[in-house]
Order: sequence, then structure tokens, then C-alpha cells
Amino acid sequence: MSRKILVELQQLNKVFLTDEIETQALNHISLTIYEGEYVSITGPSGCGKSTLLSMLGLLDTSSAGSYHLAGHDVSQLSRDERARIRNKEIGFVFQSFNLISDLTVAENIALPLTYRSDLSKNEIGTMVKAALEKVDMSHRASHYPSQLSGGQQQRVAVARAIAGKPSIILADEPTGNLDSKNAQAVMALLDQLHADGATICMVTHDPRSAERAERLVEVFDGKIVADQKFNKPTAIAI
Ligand SMILES: Nc1ncnc2c1ncn2[C@@H]1O[C@H](COP(=O)(O)OP(=O)(O)OP(=O)(O)O)[C@@H](O)[C@H]1O
Ligand SMILES: [Mg+2]
Repeated sequence: MSRKILVELQQLNKVFLTDEIETQALNHISLTIYEGEYVSITGPSGCGKSTLLSMLGLLDTSSAGSYHLAGHDVSQLSRDERARIRNKEIGFVFQSFNLISDLTVAENIALPLTYRSDLSKNEIGTMVKAALEKVDMSHRASHYPSQLSGGQQQRVAVARAIAGKPSIILADEPTGNLDSKNAQAVMALLDQLHADGATICMVTHDPRSAERAERLVEVFDGKIVADQKFNKPTAIAI
């Protein structure tokens, strides 16, 4: 039995126009990601990695090309539809954690879920609890982000990303602001999520982090210049 395709980009272009400068951030990107895959994306600064991630996460739209997510064409959606799908299907983890400082840990994790009409208050409570347990942060549920270490803040950000059971986790330099010990802990957490079946796409500068994935995509000048699979056992039964 073959694995299901989760993400399919075809000939995706992204051109930014700022004043008189035109930047082709993505240049005919075609990429297929299967359910349960752990993909890392590397490449030099400015090559288009974050732009690619914001396309995958429906934060921005492409200039040309198509994007199918779980078989649905998501390239032509309205802003509201994009936001709805993003909230349900995509979990983001950013370098700078992006937690809201005047909300507690539990409230930060709950916030994206409260925008979902399919979830009751009770269900949200259960999901927040489960996500906190998964990242081993239940004991800090009532703390505020400023009362946590960087590593703990990133674990909360991971909990926020996974709480809604998204189809894919997108991480942009998730260990970029962490010391090596905390970076290891966050990488181990991503390994665990992958082992539990999560699909992960992670941008990283760090070769050691990149090697934790089972597939390495290299971007240069807006193009995919290498796409290499490592011979590792995967969590998904094929
Ligand atoms: N909103 C924007 N407006 C104009 N140009 C942009 C915008 N976002 C990105 N760019 C340009 O697109 C190119 C790709 O940027 P991107 O942020 O995707 O690079 P990156 O690979 O993530 O780099 P880094 O490793 O430094 O994070 C860069 O030349 C950047 O200046
Ligand atoms: Mg970037």
C-alpha cells in the first residue's frame, strides 16, 4: 500500500514587489510530501525557505503554480477560507516562540482552538491538557511565558502547534534561539511526534538538526536543488 500524499506543490512561484525591486523568492518549486514524513529544508540565508514555509502554511499566496493539501486545491482560496484551513490543518513553530505574553501557558495553547466552531469548551480543555502532557509542561499550565526558560517556551509553542491535531507541523528554525541542551530537547520532542505519526516540515541551518529528518530538501535561489532521502525506519506502517 502506498503512503498518502499530503502536500503537493507544482511549479510554485512567489514574486515580491517592493518599491522598484522584484524578488523571485520561489522559482518553480515542485514538492510532494507524504503523510508521516519528516522533511528538513536547508539552504543559505535569503534562498526562500521561510517563504516556502509560509506558502505551505497558507500564511501567504503564491504568484503562480498550484498547491494541493490533502487532495484539495488550496491555491485559490479566499483569505477567510485560508485562515480556517490553516487553523485546523497547520501547526506552526517559529524560532522566536511567538507566545502571547499576557496569556498563561494553557491560554496560549487554547487560543487557536477557540476560533474553531467544531470544538466545545470541554473538548478544548481536554486537548490543551493532552498537548501539555505530550511536551511535559503540565506543571507550568498557569505560568506566563516570561516565567519560563527559552526551551520551556518552545515546548509550549510545540504544544500549541499540536493541540489541534493538525495534518502537518511546520517549524522555522525551531532551535534557532535555544542553547544546545534545550535545542536537543526540542529536537527530541519533534522526533517523538514523528514517531507518533506526525508529518513535519522543518527549516534549519543546523546540519545536525537537519539529519534528524528522514528527508533533506536543499533550496538555493528559490529552487529545490537537492532532495535526498535518508535510509531510516519510519513510524508509519506501509
Ligand atoms: N515580505 C517580503 N517582501 C519583500 N521581499 C521579501 C519578503 N519576504 C521575503 N522576501 C525576500 O525573499 C527572499 C527569500 O526570503 P526568505 O525569508 O524566504 O529567506 P530564508 O531562506 O528564510 O532566509 P533566512 O535563512 O535568512 O531566514 C529574500 O531575498 C527576501 O528578501
Ligand atoms: Mg527564514
